[in-house]
Amino acid sequence: MRRSKISIIGAGNVGATTAHWCAAAELGDIVLLDIPQTETMPAGKALDLLEASPIVGFDSKITGTTEYSDTSESDIVVITAGLPRKPGMSRDDLLKTNASIVTAVSEQVCKHSPNAFVIVVSNPLDAMVQRAQKVTGFPPCRVMGQAGVLDTARYRTFLAMELGVSVEDVQGMLMGGHGDTMVPLRTCTSVGGIPISQLLSASRLEEIIERTRKGGGEIVGLLKTGSAFYAPAAATTQMVEAIVKDKKRLLPLAAYCDSEYQVGGYYVGVPAILGAGGVEKIIELALDEQEQAEFQKSVEAVKELVKTMEELLA
Ligand code: NAI
Ligand code: 2OP
Repeated sequence: MRRSKISIIGAGNVGATTAHWCAAAELGDIVLLDIPQTETMPAGKALDLLEASPIVGFDSKITGTTEYSDTSESDIVVITAGLPRKPGMSRDDLLKTNASIVTAVSEQVCKHSPNAFVIVVSNPLDAMVQRAQKVTGFPPCRVMGQAGVLDTARYRTFLAMELGVSVEDVQGMLMGGHGDTMVPLRTCTSVGGIPISQLLSASRLEEIIERTRKGGGEIVGLLKTGSAFYAPAAATTQMVEAIVKDKKRLLPLAAYCDSEYQVGGYYVGVPAILGAGGVEKIIELALDEQEQAEFQKSVEAVKELVKTMEELLA
């Protein structure tokens, strides 16, 4: 039986770390691709990772390349290609640059791996995944964005730290765009089955929600030279695993919502079942009034972002 082929576009921090987690979990054979200007860098990272295999004990084949032909017939393509924001670069400059990169990458994905599932990680996430779906023309169930798994993991981590419990016992769900408007669902937060309202004051929970919303910025502030990559890569790997192993995981992810939540044809973070068919089902929750208002605000922010992207690309 053929192993799954997982191509990761962008061999930078998130891409290479995703390759690491995917290889260690033996999710398939991995191709790490970057632009020709990076020359042998992807090959170097791939060989270095492969040389860890006898120690860690995995049998994945790992290749580094700058040629899309090496990615042909991938089952899953992860897009992490993009620039981080540089000094003097406006938000719109970054949006335009990364949208152009994701456009170019998506054209190649469509050409070389027409049957692949695509997981977009590049930022600004909600606009980039919208772009990838439009350019590939793939069915929306095969194109999705990674953000919610990461944001929920941050939320769960902060709650576990606060309560002094295992992260494994903290459950949470989160919706909306990947940014300050994201909506951690208070009503879906529990610890060992106990509603969070019985364990933590409402005001302290709001502080943790605020920290979660700013979680990406907190890491940027600490690293100073880049953004988070360990947790983002672990989150992406969980999505790869859900598809490869048909796990039917119920995860928060950026999925195409049309009639769902009355979004009207945009990618936003929602709970969804992820398996061998990709985004197999979007779960529509009955949100309370506050959650509904916050979600609506987040959807509007995503629509504005997509509109700006389309104007910049026109
Ligand atoms: P990085 O700068 O370490 O790596 C990006 C790589 O993309 C570089 O190696 C670069 O050469 C490559 N690249 C640029 N243009 C390309 C093209 N046309 N084709 C192929 N490769 C290309 O950045 P890092 O830290 O890996 O982040 C990657 C992206 O992921 C950024 O946009 C970042 O903001 C985003 N991100 C998203 C998260 C999420 O939860 N959705 C979390 C963390 C990062
Ligand atoms: C994060 O949330 C930068 O989107 C990235 O860490």
